[in-house]
Parts: sequence; structure tokens; C-alpha cells
Amino acid sequence: MQTMTTLLRGAIGTAALLTLPYVHGQSSPSMTDIQIDANTVEAHVHPEIYGHFAEHLGRCIYGGIWVGEDSDIPNTNGIRNDVVQALRDLDIPVLRWPGGCFADEYHWRDGIGPREERPAMINTHWGGVTENNHFGTHEFMELCEQLDTDAYVAGNLGSGTIQEMMNWVEYMTSDADSPMANLRRENGRDEPWDVQYFGVGNESWGCGGSMRPEYYADVYRRYNTFVKDYGDHIYRIACGANGDDLNWTDVMMDRAGRNMDGLSLHYYTLPTGNWGDKGPATGFGEDAWMSTLNNALRMDEILTNHSAVMDKYDPDKKVGLIVDEWGVWTNVEPGTNPGFLYQQNSLRDALVAALHFNIFHKHADRVRMANIAQTVNVLQAMLLTDGPKMVKTPTYWVFEMYKVHQDEDLLGLELDSPEYEHNGQSIPQVSATATRNPETGVIHVSLVNTSPEQATKIAAKLEGFEGKTVKNGRILTADAIDAHNTFDDPEHVQPKPFSAVTLEDHELALTLPAKSIVVLELHP
Ligand code: AHR
Repeated sequence: MQTMTTLLRGAIGTAALLTLPYVHGQSSPSMTDIQIDANTVEAHVHPEIYGHFAEHLGRCIYGGIWVGEDSDIPNTNGIRNDVVQALRDLDIPVLRWPGGCFADEYHWRDGIGPREERPAMINTHWGGVTENNHFGTHEFMELCEQLDTDAYVAGNLGSGTIQEMMNWVEYMTSDADSPMANLRRENGRDEPWDVQYFGVGNESWGCGGSMRPEYYADVYRRYNTFVKDYGDHIYRIACGANGDDLNWTDVMMDRAGRNMDGLSLHYYTLPTGNWGDKGPATGFGEDAWMSTLNNALRMDEILTNHSAVMDKYDPDKKVGLIVDEWGVWTNVEPGTNPGFLYQQNSLRDALVAALHFNIFHKHADRVRMANIAQTVNVLQAMLLTDGPKMVKTPTYWVFEMYKVHQDEDLLGLELDSPEYEHNGQSIPQVSATATRNPETGVIHVSLVNTSPEQATKIAAKLEGFEGKTVKNGRILTADAIDAHNTFDDPEHVQPKPFSAVTLEDHELALTLPAKSIVVLELHP
């Protein structure tokens, strides 16, 4: 990276330099060239790439979403109004529930009927706390209705029976005069619900049963046979690989590829890359900033590799790659239950989210859905709550800024980025994506500057686009790399208008500030 020092040395010589103080964070901008080809549509950006995940884990469901009808916290049928409103503003396309690892020990019949009569269980994975089953199928479906989002229900293959899974699907989706549909009616719901997505096992290589792919492929096929379509086709998702495990994908595609609609993939970004000490969510320095962004960018290579394996068996790309768990996983906040996975969320995490979206767009021909872990109070959350208080995280704001890309066409984009270097590591300083609304012709361009100190001058040539107007530009940045929002200072990191942009002679020009995310709207 060109620094203030190297630049000044060239311009005015070393002697004069000695009299000039180095001003931290003010090195001269680098130069970035981008070509956007509006004549080429590379893929469609499925809105489900902006999906979410809420598990019975820590304070995600209980306290974060469900407070019960008698709570003093304003709620509708037990679900907090502030959280629903904040999430509605993100246009959430799909919500995955009830796990995660919890899904493979969840017995759905414990979560229906009068709440005071529901049996309790121990949540063995997450803190060993007592789960009272007050949030069950009806409450989840109510949440989906309040959010106006699709339901992705994760079934229990690890410790549940085939009949149990079959009955759950019938309970939720059958309109017949059948035992399970009638049980649903007895519990107050006449109409079947739409369940658009169903997961047949979660992390079956680990917490979901410690299986080998050869064994799981057969078990998957057996369970999946009994996931019936009572109405619209339910999109079935098989458990996929952990990070780089290409063999899992290979075996699953070979042995069960024709029996699934989607195959999942889990990859988490650990700041240190070490599960024993993942690194703190705040209070870190530039080493951790660099290693976190570097680890996040691995998602690109991981998707490329899994896609190549899937292409061998499915060249027409019928099976979707479903990244149903991703995000930053840090050490928990000091003093909190280690099993609750409660972590703060900083500007760094916002950049991780934006980098992921740019990568998911690039792989949109194969990536059909992605679900960040998790919605409230767990891992890279959108929202943090403390009793009646709620705060939107920097990651929330990335979802809010990027929602314009949902359901748009991905345009061809070539990027010649300078490198951001630190501590012997190097990553591209700029990441970018461009999509076009197929109805209005408006192009949305999103840009990320990974350098914590150096701005970059962007010159983006637009081929096949005659527009001259840039509207509604917004930027997310902050004073520090670990800047975050707290209950006392909830608006410390939030988007601001960004208008220092020109669009003339098919060239978009702007200076992208250090450690920032910018989203622009180009009008035809
Ligand atoms: O999201 C937290 C946990 O991470 C999920 O329960 C599990 O599937 C994964 O290991």
C-alpha cells in the first residue's frame, strides 16, 4: 500500500519530510479501476441469499424474539414488536428454525398445545439450560407471518424418527381430514401453513449424529422419502459440508444428488482461525482486522471448490448450494454464559457481511440461499437486546443497505484492485458488486474498502448504460475499526448519505473512504 511517507518522499524529498508529522489515517488514496458490463447478466440474485437463522440458543428465541403474551415488553401474541419492526425493515426473505444443533434434539410435539402443559427439556448443546417449549411450531409460523417471510424448518434426523418427521410435515402443511392436520386444528390453526423449505438433518457430520457421508447419504434418502408434499412442493435441503470438506459434497452429490433440491454448507469466520481462542468481538487491533477479513474472503474459494464438485454431477445447476450458516464467530462477551454465544458486533463485522454478499452474488448461479448466524443476541446478530432495550448492530445496517440487491440481475464486473497489506498478509483493498433491477433498469453498485487507513479513488466504466444520475448514495463507516453500537450509544455506527459521486461519459467516479461500505443507485 502506498503510504503518505512514500508519496511525500517522491514529491518533496527526505529533508522536508522530517519536518512533516505523519497523520494517522490520512495516506493518499490508491486507484481502483472497475468495468461494469450492463449488457451481460451473469445470474439472478435470489432474495434468499439475504436469509436469516434463529435457533433455540442463548437469548435468540427467548428474550430476543419471544417474551410471552404477559410480558411488559410490547409484543403481539408474545413476539416483541420492536424486533419484528426492525427485521421487517430488512425485507427478510426466509427464516431458518429451530436449529442448528438444537434441531437434531428437538421433538416438535413437545412444542404444541397449551403452553403450560408442554414438557420441558434440557438444551444440551447450548448451556444445558431448561427449554420450556413455549416457542414451538405455531409461534414460529406466527413469527414468519409477522415478518412476512418464508419458513425454513430444520427437521430432526439425528435423534428423531422418520415417523416424527413425516408427522411434522403433515401437521404443518396438510389440508386433509388427516390425524395430524386435525391435531393442528385442535390447537387452533385451521389452515395449513406454507413451509417453503425443509432441512433433513443439520451438521450430520458433527452435532447432528457424527455420521460419515456414505452413511448419511442413505439415511438422508430414507428420511427424505417421507417428507411429503401435501400442497406446494417443499424444497428439501440435505446436510452439506463443513467448510472445505469437498469429499462430503462429492459423496452426497453422487449418492443422493437426485433426491435433494439443495445441499447446505457451513463456514464461519473466526478472527484468529482458532476455535480455542477465536478472538474478541471488540477491542482488537489491525492484526485481527486483517486476519478476520482475510478469513472471510475464504468463502469465495470455498464456494468455487464446492461448486466445481457439484458441477460434475449437476452441470445444469439444479441443486442449490445453501449456505445456511455463516458469519463471524468470536469469543463470547466477558461474563456471559459461554454456551449462549453472545458477542458484540463491530464495523469489522459489517465489512465481513458486505464481503460475503459480494461473494454470494458472484456465485449466484449456484448459491440459492444463505442464512447468517444468527438473528438476535447470538453470533453475528442483527439485533442485540437487554430486557426492553434493543440496538441495531453494524451488520444490521449492511443488510438494510444491501437489500436493494435482492431479486436483481447480476451484471458482469471486472475489478483491478490495489492490495491492502498488513503483517505479511495481503487482500484486495476493494470488493464490488453491481446488480440491475429488471423492471426499473436502476443499477445498484456496492463497494467495500478493506483498508483501515487508506481511501481509494474509484473509476468505474459502465458499458451499455446511458444513465447520468446517482441517487440515494449511502455510506457505512466509523471512527474506529471496532466501532460498535451499545444500549447507551445505539446510533454510533449507522449509514449516512453519500453524494460525492459523479457519473459522466459512462464513468462513475468517487473516493471510497477507508474502512467503508458504499451503496449507490444509478438511474437510467
Ligand atoms: O450457529 C451455532 C451453531 O453452529 C449451530 O447450532 C450449528 O449448526 C453450528 O455448529
